[in-house]
Amino acid sequence: MANKDPVKVGVLYSRTGVTSAIESSQRLGTLLAIEEINDHGGIDGREIVAIEYDPASDPYQFRNLAERLVAIDNVNVIFGCYMSSARKAVMPIVEKYNRILFYATLYEGFEFSNNIIYTGAAPNQNSVQLADFMMSMFGGRVYLIGSDYIYPYESNRIMSDLVHQRPGGSVVAQRYVPVNAGQSDFDGIVNEIKELAPDFIFSTVVGNATQHLYNAYAEAGLNPKSMPIASLTTSEVEVAQMGASVAAGHFTAAPYFTSIDTAENHRVLQRFRARFDDEIHPNACWEAAYFQVHLFANAMRGAGNDSVPVLMPQILGSEFLAPQGRVRVEPSNHHTHLYPRIGRVNSKGEFAIVRASKNAVVPDPYLVTHSLGDWTLALETLQD
Ligand code: ACM
Repeated sequence: MANKDPVKVGVLYSRTGVTSAIESSQRLGTLLAIEEINDHGGIDGREIVAIEYDPASDPYQFRNLAERLVAIDNVNVIFGCYMSSARKAVMPIVEKYNRILFYATLYEGFEFSNNIIYTGAAPNQNSVQLADFMMSMFGGRVYLIGSDYIYPYESNRIMSDLVHQRPGGSVVAQRYVPVNAGQSDFDGIVNEIKELAPDFIFSTVVGNATQHLYNAYAEAGLNPKSMPIASLTTSEVEVAQMGASVAAGHFTAAPYFTSIDTAENHRVLQRFRARFDDEIHPNACWEAAYFQVHLFANAMRGAGNDSVPVLMPQILGSEFLAPQGRVRVEPSNHHTHLYPRIGRVNSKGEFAIVRASKNAVVPDPYLVTHSLGDWTLALETLQD
């Protein structure tokens, strides 16, 4: 008789701590996809059941709870992690037990694991395009500000490299604040920004601290029209936290914005809004969290079960029509073909898309090439 046992999967997104707002959106993107799959008969008649813990935005708890999921709950697949410090903490666990982590967050690249599938943007799918756009629109003198952990250090290193490739490009200063920074931590930063007058600011600040940076910037009377903040981590979630009037005029590069006009995006957003509360704002990390569950379910249909040796070959090379467009898992590096886009926050607090790639860009997590050849630009008019 066919196996009708539920398929247990681990879900590790923080509901408390400094990155709980963005991780709560990833959690609900995951649960939306699980519901969709279960509503359509599960995986070959087997219901997906999420086993969830709250790692409280703490890498040590991520590590311990990942070990609990694989060793005690016996799950083969975990969906989770936002901060790279959390992914780095979970990686040895999924490698030791030979399980799979699906990671739905943009990150600094320069990593490969046989046991991780990366569905967020690698630097050649967001940093390269953002550097190109910001330098051509505003100039090459950049001020780098980040949270104090691995993703900001590495992402700033990549941005520095890209900026220095352009004549006249320079980093005027590079500063870090604690991951749990409050607004007073940014007082000295905005004073220095005023003094140094860069062409733009690149923020790798994450989580709740993001609103404090933008608030401090606004209170100092700085003007996004002439000296905007550009980021990869300021999503619809952080914009909602700071409010439209503070966020308007600043830029973010990501493969997905809520404002994307595709039938698939409208369908998924409508379903999400009907099902979950309005307090959660869909964003690029939510979208990746959503579509990676479908990648998993389709692969498991092909594999017949979720044991890693049969599941992984089905995941690699697989495709899915996601809200951002058709995505594909690249077999050679476990990252995903994605669509770079640049958005500018408008007066309603929505991202108006000001540049978009027509084609998915092949992930190149080691930046073997900095070529912009895949970046088919469609420059649209900037609007207020
Ligand atoms: C991140 O830490 N990958 C945002």
